[in-house]
Amino acid sequence: MPAVAVVGAQWGDEAKGHVIDLLAGRAALVVRCQGGPNAGHTVVTDGGTYRLHMVPCGALHPGVRSVIGHGVVVDPIGLLEELDTLAAAGVDPSTVLLSERAHLIMPYHRQLDLLEERARGEGMIGTTGRGIGPAYADKASRAGLRVCDALTTGGHHKLLAAARRGARLVRAFDGEPCNPDEAADTYMAALERLRPHVGDALTVVHEALERGDTVLLEGAQAALLDLDTGTYPFVTSSCTLVAGVLAGAGIPPAALTGCIGVYKAYPTRVGSGPFPSEMDAATASEVREIGHEYGATTGRPRRCGWFDAVTARYSARLNGYSAVALTHLDVFDTLPAIRVCTGYRLRGASLDRVPSLATDLAACEPVWEELPGWLQSTADARTLDDLPLAARAYVKRVEELAGVPVALVTVGPHRDAAIELRPLL
Ligand code: IMO
Ligand code: MG
Repeated sequence: MPAVAVVGAQWGDEAKGHVIDLLAGRAALVVRCQGGPNAGHTVVTDGGTYRLHMVPCGALHPGVRSVIGHGVVVDPIGLLEELDTLAAAGVDPSTVLLSERAHLIMPYHRQLDLLEERARGEGMIGTTGRGIGPAYADKASRAGLRVCDALTTGGHHKLLAAARRGARLVRAFDGEPCNPDEAADTYMAALERLRPHVGDALTVVHEALERGDTVLLEGAQAALLDLDTGTYPFVTSSCTLVAGVLAGAGIPPAALTGCIGVYKAYPTRVGSGPFPSEMDAATASEVREIGHEYGATTGRPRRCGWFDAVTARYSARLNGYSAVALTHLDVFDTLPAIRVCTGYRLRGASLDRVPSLATDLAACEPVWEELPGWLQSTADARTLDDLPLAARAYVKRVEELAGVPVALVTVGPHRDAAIELRPLL
């Protein structure tokens, strides 16, 4: 029963989409497991650039089944737009299956997301504004609506009741609620259009595993954004660890044969929250331009940092990576020197773990190590030997510091721009 998870090892945007796309052709099924339209997974093919938010990156491979698992919170309007965009680009969207158990993001969830952020003032999280937190909160408090609840008898009535309840919550934040009747009608119509894609995804995944098919689990967000182990409260509202990925797909841990952690050569962070290895403004802006570090979901500029061994080891411990993908190495091609953070100092003492308080992590001073840059293009490298010596030394240092073997290095956004050091699947 080969099930392999691909999860984010830093603060998101590590190019999980690229890694999934590279491996999807060798899988029968790709499953999105948690998160929702806060994710922005980019795949670059000869046919163009695709930014996927809820649809798994496997959808670009003919013959691969794409499943949106029950752990995902789904915006039906956004999902229809994604499917339409794929169809317009000549991609067959009929391979996409949406779990009937997935919870809906209602329009009032998006409104509440923005209103709650406004109420936080200086302490704002910097959410993507997609309604993720409020939708998961309703799910946990058993006030949520699942796709199957809306698509069964009395579905419109349930949507209307939910929208009316949502309107009261929006008013409590001094917001102007959407018209509940309009929201229920629009959602009912969108869900009816989605109906051909809706099914018992859990059984489809279980049957695939029983046949011995390879199932790829596409994680969203990342370990440092996890609700429990991330930099709370500057986190997302789902479990982003491999444990959450398994739960969101409904797969037993024993079925897992591998867990690939994706590290970007330089971690980035969007939104607020501590980031000890953040680069100085000038270097960050250089790296941001070279790496096109603007949010795929919100367009916000991403904060850029140097590789941080403390958070890297922390996420490796939490997820137990069998292998690591190191992405965007080419972005360093023009940098004369490269830093890595090997530890922290907090209030004068050394620290080699991630503290529980975000304020403590924010107060951590990084201990730097400097490595020489390679000052030449790596874009055409397809084997380890094609890489300049200094680039190889950087990969080796990351391996040592994170304590996990690097199995894949990417040197550009295109799907071919990758070096597979050992087979990942
Ligand atoms: P992928 O899958 C980067 C961040 C937001 C914010 C925090 C909470 O593309 O790596 P939310 O809207 O989830 O309530 O926002 O989490 N965030 C991400 N950052 N990549 C993502 O997904 C993210 N999904 C959420 O910026 O700081
Ligand atoms: Mg993203």
